[in-house]
Amino acid sequence: MRRIWVLYLGITVAVGLVALGVLTWFARDAVLANWKALLFLAAMGAIAESQAVVISKDRAITVAFAVNLCALLMFGPVPAAWVALVSVLGAVSDFGHGKREHIFNTPVHKTLFNSASYILSMIAGGYAYAALGGGFLAGRAFAGFAALFAFIGANLAPLVVAILAYILVNTGTVALYLTFFTGRNTIRQWFGQFLWSIPSLFVIGVLGIIITLMYQQFGWVAVVLFFGPLMLARYTFVLYSSLKKGYLDTIKALSSSIEAKDVYTVGHSKRVEELCEGMATVLDLSAKRMETLRYAALLHDVGKIGIPEAILNKPGPLNKEEREQIRRHPEIGAHMLGGIEFLADAVRIIRAHHIAYDGSGYPSTASADGQLLEAQIICTADSYDAMTTDRPYRPAMLRERALSEIRRLSGTQFSPTVVDALERAIHRIEPLPAAAPAPQELTPAHKAEAS
Ligand SMILES: [Fe+2]
Repeated sequence: MRRIWVLYLGITVAVGLVALGVLTWFARDAVLANWKALLFLAAMGAIAESQAVVISKDRAITVAFAVNLCALLMFGPVPAAWVALVSVLGAVSDFGHGKREHIFNTPVHKTLFNSASYILSMIAGGYAYAALGGGFLAGRAFAGFAALFAFIGANLAPLVVAILAYILVNTGTVALYLTFFTGRNTIRQWFGQFLWSIPSLFVIGVLGIIITLMYQQFGWVAVVLFFGPLMLARYTFVLYSSLKKGYLDTIKALSSSIEAKDVYTVGHSKRVEELCEGMATVLDLSAKRMETLRYAALLHDVGKIGIPEAILNKPGPLNKEEREQIRRHPEIGAHMLGGIEFLADAVRIIRAHHIAYDGSGYPSTASADGQLLEAQIICTADSYDAMTTDRPYRPAMLRERALSEIRRLSGTQFSPTVVDALERAIHRIEPLPAAAPAPQELTPAHKAEAS
């Protein structure tokens, strides 16, 4: 898969750069005649590109598309591709890694891929627009806004197709990049990661059209003035991102509260979450199910808050009554979180995370939900982590021994599909930490930041 990823990256970069070179030769007059305007738009694009909003750990979004669209409507596809390219090369973005990232501290292959993705997106959108009869504004005179609006109205169908073509090529190239990098299904990847952003990109497209009209009538000052509303559109992404981060921070705080009480489980929830994420990747779960699974994994033992510390930290074996008390934690956790709407699906999983594959386990009232794939994933990851870390009553098992124990219980305590996913996830996560770097951001419209 790694070799296919390298091959794909190489082909995309080669096609993007060659296409730009060849098309620039044929459109050199349009590029050279408007170089000052293009440089100005590229500078505005770079500012917009620098304001990337991180949506999740492998996604970010920008509003630079509005400026690129303005360049397209004014000067045509090739000048617009140059504006997009210079914008991405000139961006200085903060992806939350504690430093601002730019071309001088970003791996060359990432910069090249993102540049090629932007070029190809702009060329696809631009030539789709031109092929459908869309006109360009530079050098044309309009008698007031009414004439300009009439122009946009007459070109509306090509414009919608152009925006769609841009989005499809942009998201498609990045989705394939991630597919070859992570091994996930492309279509599922695309629906999970990118579908949500299409309405937002159309709104940014409308702002791009407004900026174009202002630019045509009043020149560069209007573009600078309309940057305010554009940044307001960016703010909607900031709100979305803050909301998601707020959810996750709350969940992490709740998760760590149990670790303050149970000294032997420090780091357990986080490790289970990482293991679950690895297994969900192997099993190709959708982004939505993956998110719910991560929430449930972080909170699966939160009900232990209701169990006395003397039992949780007892250095010897538990007696029958103490075991009964411990067994109440899935229901206590489900009860605690039951009123939180966005955790409704996670609560079912938390309640069933001690139900075995054969239906045994506790609480018996959750045995139906025990068959949920997510509940089985947590059940297996939980057991693996418990086996491979020190507990009050026994030292940690070696990884191979824990895996063979889990394999022995496959089909009874654990789902065979999930056991298989655990083995594949462990071999991906543990022996190859240096050889398999994790994906980071995508920005865009979308750009790839996976190493
Ligand atoms: Fe548990």
